[in-house]
Amino acid sequence: MLADKHILLIVGGGVAAFKALDLLRRLREQGAKVTPVLTKAGAEFVTPLSLSALSVSKVYQDLFDLTDEAEMGHIELSRAADLIVVAPATADLMAKMAHGLANDLASTLLLATDKRVLIAPSMNVRMWEHPATQRNLATLKGDGVLVVGPDEGAMACGEFGPGRLAETPDIIAAIDVALSDGPLKGKHVLVTSGPTHEPIDPVRYIANRSSGAQGTAIAKALVALGAQVTFVTGPADVPPPAGVRVVAVKTAKEMLDAVTDSAPADAAVFAAAVADWHVANAGDSKIKKDKSGLPKLEFAENSDILATVSQMKTGRPALVVGFAAETDDVIAYATAKRLRKGCDWIVANDVSPSTGIMGGSENDVTLITADGAEDWPRMSKDATAAELATRIAKAIT
Ligand code: CTP
Repeated sequence: MLADKHILLIVGGGVAAFKALDLLRRLREQGAKVTPVLTKAGAEFVTPLSLSALSVSKVYQDLFDLTDEAEMGHIELSRAADLIVVAPATADLMAKMAHGLANDLASTLLLATDKRVLIAPSMNVRMWEHPATQRNLATLKGDGVLVVGPDEGAMACGEFGPGRLAETPDIIAAIDVALSDGPLKGKHVLVTSGPTHEPIDPVRYIANRSSGAQGTAIAKALVALGAQVTFVTGPADVPPPAGVRVVAVKTAKEMLDAVTDSAPADAAVFAAAVADWHVANAGDSKIKKDKSGLPKLEFAENSDILATVSQMKTGRPALVVGFAAETDDVIAYATAKRLRKGCDWIVANDVSPSTGIMGGSENDVTLITADGAEDWPRMSKDATAAELATRIAKAIT
């Protein structure tokens, strides 16, 4: 898998930097070519000499090193590799990446690259848990940066918690996935997920129940098969998966706009629980419980995003997959829904409270296609997602 792959390994400054030497050694053992880039802080922990000895390569350190520029400019360096790996990724490096700073060689390469980037964060637990770092992490994930770790455990600083650099085998596994030429490589798949919130006034809203777990699992499974995924998500309980382009929305209208803006796509999966109505007379001021009686809400229908995309005259994705969450006559309603909306497949499930599917970790679905209904065994939402992603890959490649 790693044979003949070229990895640009950026070593940030942190106690865990010494583990980058082990990572480098193992990557080389598996046949990868590794070009090390050492930050100024990283050089406080490991020497350029050890990196160059292990990589049998020049170690790049300085943005303004004219020799480097004569040999290979920083733009070229950022694009020559198949993958950029940042290990350890410090809080500072993550902040620079999240904000697009380019004030040293590492941050400039990360801004200039057109390749996938995998970071292995490592820092003190308080720094990791700080809202600023978590904000930066969310931004980076939204930008499609892949993340491995950090692990939880005792730290060099004496504290305990998440912040330890992921173990070398885990980083290598993540590198394998990042480099995988899955069957969906080069395919763009759009996934909607989570609920939508339709405002009643600035503090209240109506919504459907949805944790976003199934949509998130599907996006993750599609990424694992090499797809480029645009993940349009309402306010879900579970965080978006790594490696996707995240478009966060609140209302059905915003979701429709985000979906339209993300075209063209080779396939689209509509796992979102979109509210069917919005409040037409939603106001900018909070409704008060005064003597004028109960509020009179006027509802208006939301556009059906799945139906809109399914019935597109031009630029329709080759495969459009909808979901049907039903409580009665699941197959009959879902079969009718497929025809009514004009999508290719419907993933139908019984969400009656007794099934425990809504908000749970398992799903029990029936795939409805033009060929009929196919019952799948009850399995985890991850396994359901993996099966669906495999079917999608077969259908569009
Ligand atoms: N959907 C959508 N946009 C909407 C409503 C639903 O894209 N405004 C999508 C959902 O993401 C899901 C599918 O349509 O893939 C099924 O939605 P559902 O709400 O069950 O369908 P309805 O047409 O509302 O049918 P009913 O309420 O009668 O069950």
